[in-house]
Order: sequence, then C-alpha cells, then structure tokens
Amino acid sequence: MFKGGPGLHTWRARFFCGRGRKEPVCRWGVRTTVRDGFQRQITYLRVSLTERCNLNCFYCRPGEGKASERDGLSLDGLVRVIRAGARVGIRKIRLTGGEPLVRPDVTDLVAALAGIPQIDDIALTTNGCLLSARAAALKAAGLKRVNISLDTLHPDRFRSITRNGEWSRAWAGVEAALVQGLHPVKLNMVVMRGINDDEVLDFVRLAADRPLHVRFIEIMPIGASSSWASDLLVPADQIRQVIADRYGPLRPVKPAGGGGPARCWTIPGFKGSVGFIAPLSGYFCPSCNRLRLTAAGTLRPCLCQGDEIDLAGALARGAGEEELMQLVIQAVARKPQGHPKHEVLPVRDRLMSQIGG
Ligand code: 5AD
Repeated sequence: MFKGGPGLHTWRARFFCGRGRKEPVCRWGVRTTVRDGFQRQITYLRVSLTERCNLNCFYCRPGEGKASERDGLSLDGLVRVIRAGARVGIRKIRLTGGEPLVRPDVTDLVAALAGIPQIDDIALTTNGCLLSARAAALKAAGLKRVNISLDTLHPDRFRSITRNGEWSRAWAGVEAALVQGLHPVKLNMVVMRGINDDEVLDFVRLAADRPLHVRFIEIMPIGASSSWASDLLVPADQIRQVIADRYGPLRPVKPAGGGGPARCWTIPGFKGSVGFIAPLSGYFCPSCNRLRLTAAGTLRPCLCQGDEIDLAGALARGAGEEELMQLVIQAVARKPQGHPKHEVLPVRDRLMSQIGG
C-alpha cells in the first residue's frame, strides 16, 4: 500500500531477480516488493551493528581476545543503506550484533529508521544486560520489540556460559522490556545438551504468568561452535516432547510478531507462548525472507554461505541511493535456494557476532 499524499493510488511494482531476467528499476520510490530467483519475497534485513559484545558466550565467541573487533557501518552509512533497502522492499529491520547496545548511537539509529516511511517494524536482539537503562529511550525512539538471548536462569551457569556475565543484569533487561511494553518480548534460549537442557521446563514456566515468548533454539555449527555443535545439539522434537509430557499436547499458534522461522505453541492458561527455531530438524529455507548486513559492512544473502556484497566500499566511494538499491537487488538475486535438508553446512568464514545472530 502506498502511504503517499492526496490523489495517489495504491501502486505496486515488483523487482524480479530471477537469473537471466533484466531487472527493472523503480524510480518513484513507492511501496515495492522484491523477490529472489525462488519466488521468495525479501522483506527483512538483519543488521549486525558491531562485532563487540559485553558478554563472551563460549559457543558464540572463541577465546578471550577482543582486540580486533570492529563496529559496523557508521550511523549515516546504516541509514543510507536501509533507506535504499526500504525502497526496494525491505519492511522489517532487526538490529543485532555482537551486542548492539554497546554502540552508543543505537537510539539515534532507531529514531532515524522510524522516520523511513516504508519501514513497518524495528526490532532488537540483545543479551539484555544494558537494556534496563535504555529501554524507555529506545521505545520512545520507535523501537517496537525485543528478543533477549538468555540461556539459563542460574546466575552461576550464566557466569560460566557467558564467561563472567552477571545474570541479574540480563534479567533486569527482561523486566524493563516488559515494563516498557516492547511486545512481543521474546526470550531466546539456545538449548545445549549437558549444559542447560535441564532448564527447559523452568523456561516454559516463565511464559505462564507473564507475556513472555520463549523460543528454544537448536545450536548451529557457526563460527566458534562449528566443530562441536553436533555434540551439544538437542533436536526441537525432543524439547517439545519434554514439554508435552508435563503439560499435555501443545496447541499451535501464529508466532507473536510473525514472519520468522519459529514454530509456536501455547499451553492453556498461559500468557506467553513457546516456540522452536530448528534450522536443522525443521528446514525453513523455503520461506526465508531475509538478508543480513554484517558488521564488516557487507550484505550477506544467506547466513550459511560465504557470498557477500561489499557495501562499505560502495559507501566509501560515495555511492548514491540508486547504486545502493542496485546492490540490494543484486544481493537478493544471489540468494541461494538453501542448505540441504537436515544438514546445515558449517559456517567457518565468520562468527555469529559478525554476521548478526
Ligand atoms: N547456534 C544457535 N544460536 C546461536 N546464537 C549465537 N550463536 C549461535 C549458534 N551457534 C544465538 C544467540 C542469540 C541469537 C541471536 O543467536 O544465543 O539468542
């Protein structure tokens, strides 16, 4: 739908990016959609704002060395890229990292993105530790919702998974998100065999009397965890069975916030829901709707494949909006069909914090 001035009509253009097609360019900047070569409509851009993180989770980041970590594109560069993306069909932005809140300009960025007319949804993925002080300002700037990564409810375990994080700060972030109404507030738990898999029902209980949407994630062989992720993997079906044994059959619900890869369920009487993100056992490449902007300033068409398009270089050369739009269209055209079913190819070229977890 075109949200334009008086007398203008609903208007839709499509960029078809199938191989061998000549791509038309829309010069009017109204609501457009872009599809890849497999007829998937690409509406979602995940943006890694920085490789830096105030935690150091063992499965996400190798070693202790943080010296070479860099921030992503500048505030101005990010806004230019996202504005160009919005003109070719991007509607939803998720700011992630690393830990996006270690960048002091996140609130300004949210405010700038909220001013782009085609962007309908701005979300944030965070570990929550810096959220309580900033939730109100982020909400006022236009942030709609948050996903908080939290793998345990035990402070001592939190300290060992995150290599020295303070659990109470992360939990304060969860409470601040609820108080500020950053709904749906989702909790992401990466379930790992022998590490936190005994806490599944404790996490489910969090959704009983709070509007929290708990999502159990299968660990993926990416970066730091690429060689041993299979030893830690707990398939989503096993987690679901543990929950069904305690609560009876789960009822499917539409995912809160919609559009993502989670399959979601509710338990009668619960305020929140539980969901499963299962890249390995629940193949979701056919409905992939996303691109990623890495902390290196490249557009990555697929999480699991190394192909990237350099936007930082284009920005440094002074690329204008039309050129940036073309680069986004190119990235969409280069989206591969996906990984083979039940087999995520290990990602070794980048860490999750660089790509945007
Ligand atoms: N597998 C699955 N999830 C991961 N995350 C980071 N690394 C991995 C991995 N190897 C998660 C974080 C966070 C989300 C953004 O990505 O824990 O919840």
